Amino acid sequence: MNYIDVHNHFLPGMDDGCKNFGESLLCVRAMIAQGYNRFFLTPHTGPTEITNIKPAQTCLAVERFSRQMAEAGVKAEFRPGGELRLSPEMCRWTDMTLVPTYGMNTRYVLADLWEPFWPAWGDEAVDWLQHRGFTVVLAHPERMACMLDDPGFIQVLADRGVLFQGNLGPLGGSETELVRQLAQRYLKEDRYFMLGTDGHRPDHIAFRMAGITLAADLVGEAHLRRLMVENPSKLWQ
Ligand SMILES: [Fe+2]
Repeated sequence: MNYIDVHNHFLPGMDDGCKNFGESLLCVRAMIAQGYNRFFLTPHTGPTEITNIKPAQTCLAVERFSRQMAEAGVKAEFRPGGELRLSPEMCRWTDMTLVPTYGMNTRYVLADLWEPFWPAWGDEAVDWLQHRGFTVVLAHPERMACMLDDPGFIQVLADRGVLFQGNLGPLGGSETELVRQLAQRYLKEDRYFMLGTDGHRPDHIAFRMAGITLAADLVGEAHLRRLMVENPSKLWQ
């Protein structure tokens, strides 16, 4: 299959994801068994309620992680990334190395935002990134309150040039029925640029792998391949 995961928290001990390397190994092995062979590792990045990780830390952690995986006999490749928490403060950053990009060598930025509505500073943060040449990939829109309240709001962001990364979990039944329905709708409407696991720990993986089968049933293998292989490959440089 050559699937690429574009969103996960498998770097151990960095955020609210895997607690130790053993957990990471279980996640990665379970996904390799389902056809994955490349992983962007995307810890929560920037100031959040749980961490304040900087991309340079992630790069060092991924080097170590790759070595440990190779020593454990895992045949897969790993690249750094990050899930950037959008914030009003971001627009005052002068140091662009604080912005995590896919592979840390592209202009694609995975971003998230957890407000109960889309704030004015959300627009400012997106503008700030775009004016600096970054393409914003918004993580899991199907889980955002502003989209659940008004599914059509996704078009407003799409018109601004924002791309979307959907989570496989809701498709596989990991969340509420409303989130599952919105994920299915966005998938069928071809809203997603990519699908990722957003896996945090071993017990997350089964739901996400079930999501692959359900996504294929909904939109077909070619569409799924575009979201899990072809588009992610554009970021693997
Ligand atoms: Fe995440």
